[in-house]
Amino acid sequence: MAARKDTNIAYKIYAPVYDRVFAPSFAEGHTRMVEALDAQPGERVLEVGVGTGISLRHYVAGVRVDALDFSAAMLKKARKRIDKGEVAAEVTLHQMDAHKLEFNDDTFDHAVVAHAIAVVAEPEVVLREMMRVTQPGGKLVVVNHYKDDPGKLWRAWNPVRRKLGLGQHFDLPELLQACGLEIVSDNIVNRIKSRLIVTRLPA
Ligand SMILES: C[S@@+](CC[C@H](N)C(=O)[O-])C[C@H]1O[C@@H](n2cnc3c(N)ncnc32)[C@H](O)[C@@H]1O
Repeated sequence: MAARKDTNIAYKIYAPVYDRVFAPSFAEGHTRMVEALDAQPGERVLEVGVGTGISLRHYVAGVRVDALDFSAAMLKKARKRIDKGEVAAEVTLHQMDAHKLEFNDDTFDHAVVAHAIAVVAEPEVVLREMMRVTQPGGKLVVVNHYKDDPGKLWRAWNPVRRKLGLGQHFDLPELLQACGLEIVSDNIVNRIKSRLIVTRLPA
């Protein structure tokens, strides 16, 4: 529980400056993540760790997005973005812990998580929850900073990075495959070298 509390405090501090400090480095990843998802009007998408909602403007009108985050401060920013009319899709925001999704099995056509899978306390629990609420054969798209070989030194910083809400380094493709997800494509995006991985749930 401590990791969730630390992350929540960190994002209360980041929320007012997040769009100015982090958004420019994440822009390409958000655009390409939603493009790769290719959600069609009428389809229902889950977005985990939506933050201030930078990605939301990329969904086309008619797509229904349930976007959740643990941080009330980050969600407040996302709410403002929607109220200003910056988003075409039908978005419902939820304050929710990604480790315990309050949705029934097979609720969504597809699911995405941007720059948040390494931030959550237990990435495998979150991925399996996302799989549970997504229909068989649906797409699950992840974009995240990633080091091919973090090495011992980088891993040693994980506890500090977790406390700052910056995420830990781990082998993302390995984890996705261990969860039973089929990797469809794997590309480098963003000037900070994030990884955009498109996967498919077993049919
Ligand atoms: C680096 S931000 C990414 C925000 C957004 N997806 C983006 O790409 O700009 C990570 C987000 O994950 C959220 N988060 C961390 N742990 C969470 C959890 N257990 N449940 C839901 N959201 C969580 C944080 O509150 C934060 O908004």
